[in-house]
Amino acid sequence: MKKIIAGNWKMNLLPDESLLLVNNLIKGISSESCRIVIAPPFLYLPQLKELLKDQSQISLAAQNCHHKKSGAYTGEVSPQMLRATGVEYVILGHSERRSLFSETDQWIAEKVKMALQAGLEVIFCCGETLKDRETNRHFSTVKSQIEWGLSSLSAIQMQRVCIAYEPVWAIGTGKTASPEQANEMHEFIRSLFVLEPYSVKVAEQIPILYGGSVKPANATELLAQPEIDGALVGGASLNAKDFLQIVRAAG
Ligand code: PGA
Repeated sequence: MKKIIAGNWKMNLLPDESLLLVNNLIKGISSESCRIVIAPPFLYLPQLKELLKDQSQISLAAQNCHHKKSGAYTGEVSPQMLRATGVEYVILGHSERRSLFSETDQWIAEKVKMALQAGLEVIFCCGETLKDRETNRHFSTVKSQIEWGLSSLSAIQMQRVCIAYEPVWAIGTGKTASPEQANEMHEFIRSLFVLEPYSVKVAEQIPILYGGSVKPANATELLAQPEIDGALVGGASLNAKDFLQIVRAAG
């Protein structure tokens, strides 16, 4: 499967900086064998869509969306609005949304359904806290997040979902899960999709990305793991040189 390298800019960069970064990415890519996705703040999506119109290698993602099509939801953006702007992906269930904005599993599940209905592809994030890992609850936490968020989807809908495993203790901390820890969790996640209503084929086709302090120095080793199909990159996606090095590490 084609690897996916996705950059989550979070709430960073001013408009000029965002244009400069994307121009540098465009200049820096050759014919990469992976899919590149960037997730800038909502505001920049239309202008970056225009800038990327001749670029089939770089897709746009939003960092969040609402779970309704339209209505009296001040400050929110619907998946239909994103799709109509040419956005292809949306990141849902990021740990910052779960912890800082109190998004519940149920709410995230509704967002996933509406995003798919609007024609977006979903990058669904899951991952345990340090406490979960220290008390040996990392597998059950991730299983529960996935069951809540994805288990009502059909095998066909799952073709438009990638999963990003992001241990909370590794996000923005400089600590990375070891390649073995990440690979083990990815294998576990994949195993959840082997049984009915899914199948071994469905399980094998789900891209499972790793996220949490991915940088040029650790990308090659992480991406070489058999169960790691790509990366969701935060901090290092704000620097074109670093992000392109990660893209190249994906082969
Ligand atoms: P990080 O963020 O690479 O800065 O750790 C990853 C993420 O939050 O998706």
